[in-house]
Amino acid sequence: MWPLCLVFLLINPRFVYNQIFWYQPEQVHLAYGDTVNEIVVTWSTFNDTTESVVEYGIGGFILTAKGSSKLFVDGGDAKHSQYIHTVRLGNLTYNSRYVYHCGSSQGWSDEFWFQTPPEANWQPHLAIFGDMGNENAQSLARLQQEAQRGIYDAILHVGDFAYDMDSENAEVGDAFMRQIQSVAAYLPYMTCAGNHEEKYNFSNYKERFSMPGGSGSYMYSINIGPMHVISISTEVYYFLNYGIKPLIFQYEWLENDLAKANLPENREKQPWIVVMGHRPMYCSNSNTDDCTHHETLTRVGLPFLHFFGLEKLLYDYGVDLEIWAHEHSYERLWPIYDYQVYNGSYEDPYVNPGAPVHVVTGSAGCKEGREDFNATRPTWSALISRDYGYTRLKAYNASHLYLEQVSDDKQGAVIDSFWIIKDKHEPYKFARMDWAKVDSLRLKNLEV
Ligand SMILES: *[C@@H]1O[C@H](CO)[C@@H](O)[C@H](O)[C@H]1NC(C)=O
Ligand SMILES: *[C@@H]1O[C@H](CO)[C@@H](O)[C@H](O)[C@H]1NC(C)=O
Ligand SMILES: *[C@@H]1O[C@H](CO)[C@@H](O)[C@H](O)[C@H]1NC(C)=O
Ligand SMILES: *[C@@H]1O[C@H](CO)[C@@H](O)[C@H](O)[C@H]1NC(C)=O
Ligand SMILES: *[C@@H]1O[C@H](CO)[C@@H](O)[C@H](O)[C@H]1NC(C)=O
Ligand SMILES: *[C@@H]1O[C@H](CO)[C@@H](O)[C@H](O)[C@H]1NC(C)=O
Ligand SMILES: [Fe+2]
Repeated sequence: MWPLCLVFLLINPRFVYNQIFWYQPEQVHLAYGDTVNEIVVTWSTFNDTTESVVEYGIGGFILTAKGSSKLFVDGGDAKHSQYIHTVRLGNLTYNSRYVYHCGSSQGWSDEFWFQTPPEANWQPHLAIFGDMGNENAQSLARLQQEAQRGIYDAILHVGDFAYDMDSENAEVGDAFMRQIQSVAAYLPYMTCAGNHEEKYNFSNYKERFSMPGGSGSYMYSINIGPMHVISISTEVYYFLNYGIKPLIFQYEWLENDLAKANLPENREKQPWIVVMGHRPMYCSNSNTDDCTHHETLTRVGLPFLHFFGLEKLLYDYGVDLEIWAHEHSYERLWPIYDYQVYNGSYEDPYVNPGAPVHVVTGSAGCKEGREDFNATRPTWSALISRDYGYTRLKAYNASHLYLEQVSDDKQGAVIDSFWIIKDKHEPYKFARMDWAKVDSLRLKNLEV
């Protein structure tokens, strides 16, 4: 009886296939830890492995780091489950190329590599986009090629993944994470949540990505060279069915983070404050999205009361650049605050601009296609494009930030480029930064 059973198991191809498949690491992706010389490696297996290990090093697998795994059960009927492993690689040597693989004694990933930044005078180069799905991911091939050629230091994916990660009992999410592995296993893939992540209280987003700060990835900040990059969830304004607590918590955290970033010793090191979030405050598209309305929720805050509006907060704390997505198109705005354009110097609006600069870049491609624009052009809209594509950002130094827009329709041609140039980074002319708050944080900082 027993031998027969064993023979059956050994010749059953499904059994053999499953054994290989279930412990095999997949969906490998990187993120910055709390600083840029820390990398968090995240991957999935469908069965529990006894440990979560990354073997890595400069030129070979000479170091070993261990982490942990967490069972993630999707909210769909199938209760599709997987183990999501995270391992933190800390104290990395600056300006070095590391190789790594991840897994356990039950199975290892392919070998990947990543590059750590130089300790000083780093000019980080980022690729930025939102709204990229499994189907019609127009920008993905070019991003894969450029990522592996080492052009970028990191990716910012400004919300809306896969369409949707929870679809088909989260199989669509698995497929998406496999698709981006050829980018995200080589570069920190930094994210924020969009409306397409909403299902089951954003669980597919919160569990699959490992952003800094430990707040389920929905808000965090990280210093990247001369930039203090802040990622927020605009969705806390729109999905109040999950409670108002996340909104209040994020707003308070954001004000504290901005105050801290404005401590003179911090702003000197990271003069550029860049905020990313999914839904824009402004857009000139021709649909019924909130950004086409005057009183955008994220801009002015909750209806009637106008609590927790972000535009004034970001203006008051001298935010330089605001990056949004959600509209499947590209739009650059003149420096703007409360519908007023505050151009910089007479010749160039972006030289010492009088208000934050907004960019809407949600055109990496998804099954929903492109977005149209209103035939009436608002005076605050500087440039629009319906081309599929993504944005490149390079922070040269304290005074010079460069952005350009790549078109996939035009085989990678650059269809827009501009410099933001600033002598000084401080609250705008009419802004009122809460210096008492900044000072109180300074006292707290000194106590530590
Ligand atoms: C492996 O995972 C599958 C699918 O989740 C499950 O049915 C099976 O019981 C697991 N096997 C082991 C040995 O954990
Ligand atoms: C980095 O090194 C310090 C000092 O040796 C240690 O305390 C810390 O845990 C290390 N960080 C990581 C992520 O390994
Ligand atoms: C949704 O998740 C957030 C944390 O990300 C939590 O604060 C909130 O209570 C959750 N809401 C519900 C209804 O589970
Ligand atoms: C276009 O903009 C005008 C004025 O700004 C507005 O009245 C109109 O509703 C918009 N049309 C569409 C289709 O969004
Ligand atoms: C801002 O500058 C642009 C480009 O020079 C110009 O077209 C626009 O009219 C200016 N807006 C204001 C309010 O000065
Ligand atoms: C900053 O970078 C820009 C662009 O490369 C360059 O023109 C400028 O001289 C640099 N400024 C300093 C202080 O290095
Ligand atoms: Fe969206």
